[in-house]
Amino acid sequence: MVTKIERLGVVGAGQMGGGIAEVSARAGLDVVVADVDAAAAEAGQQRVTKSLDGAVRKGKLAEAERDAALQNLRFTSELDELADRQLVIEAIAEDEGIKTGLFGRLDELVTDRDAILASNTSSIPIAKLARATDRPEQVLGVHFFNPVPVQNLVELVPSLLTSDETVQRATAFAAEQLGKNTIQAQDRSGFVVNALLVPYLLSAVRMLEGGFATAEDIDTGMVQGCAHPMGPLRLADLVGLDTLKAIADSMHAEYGEAHFSAPPLLQRMVDAGLKGKKSGKGFYTYG
Ligand code: CAA
Repeated sequence: MVTKIERLGVVGAGQMGGGIAEVSARAGLDVVVADVDAAAAEAGQQRVTKSLDGAVRKGKLAEAERDAALQNLRFTSELDELADRQLVIEAIAEDEGIKTGLFGRLDELVTDRDAILASNTSSIPIAKLARATDRPEQVLGVHFFNPVPVQNLVELVPSLLTSDETVQRATAFAAEQLGKNTIQAQDRSGFVVNALLVPYLLSAVRMLEGGFATAEDIDTGMVQGCAHPMGPLRLADLVGLDTLKAIADSMHAEYGEAHFSAPPLLQRMVDAGLKGKKSGKGFYTYG
């Protein structure tokens, strides 16, 4: 029998961390979200509250269920408040140095030696995060998709050091407690979904850069021609152009293949602070 996770920690109150916290609180877990930036923690709390309010407005969630979810959620800027967690999911920026530093810190402060330390990374080797801890067999990738309340998939990514028991516990958490569908992938940059998705998004940026078609026509092509819910440039804006570039850089470093390299237009947009939907402007402008 796999022990249920009752106390979850999330590090990072951005769109992914907030989404993971929201679905977990709705599933009845006690959730603490830590972000070292107090303003980011506050903004994350507001975003999750707004999302839960939206679900009530649309009749998908009873008011009492929203209130219960909010009761289950606590936002803090103190990492130490994660000490009693049974599972901690890291969802901070895609930066290997910062992530390995965080895993070392979490390993020290999370007192339950059976606790799992997971990463929502898309592209950074899980083995490197595991090696930053003294519990490498309890480290794995648990990768969600944006928007987390809507996308049903979680990729589970054991490293060469992860135990079978950790995979079983993480699978039970995602599938039985959160009700997500799971797939398992090897510890290779991009796993299954981003290894296929990122070259496609980068190709759309190259197409725009090369003057093949307008952003609107590229997106309409894939929405109307292939029944995708949104076109690649709008999806790149949703993922975040800084995040997309960071994932592309990791994948390019791993595979050395040209189709993983970030095109100059993407680089320059990130240099200019155009990060997509979260910054108000990317390939499109957001109100
Ligand atoms: N929270 C809760 N529910 C939400 C939501 C949110 N943030 N955003 C949308 N929804 C719900 C809406 O309530 C709506 O539900 P109903 O149909 O029951 O009313 C439904 O989702 C559709 O939403 P909308 O009508 O507002 O908008 P839409 O139909 O244009 O869909 C979308 C928006 C869900 C984002 C859709 O366009 C979509 O699925 N796009 C593709 C997203 C995708 O590919 N994500 C993966 C990105 S890759 C990634 O995340 C991994 C990585 O590492 C980079």
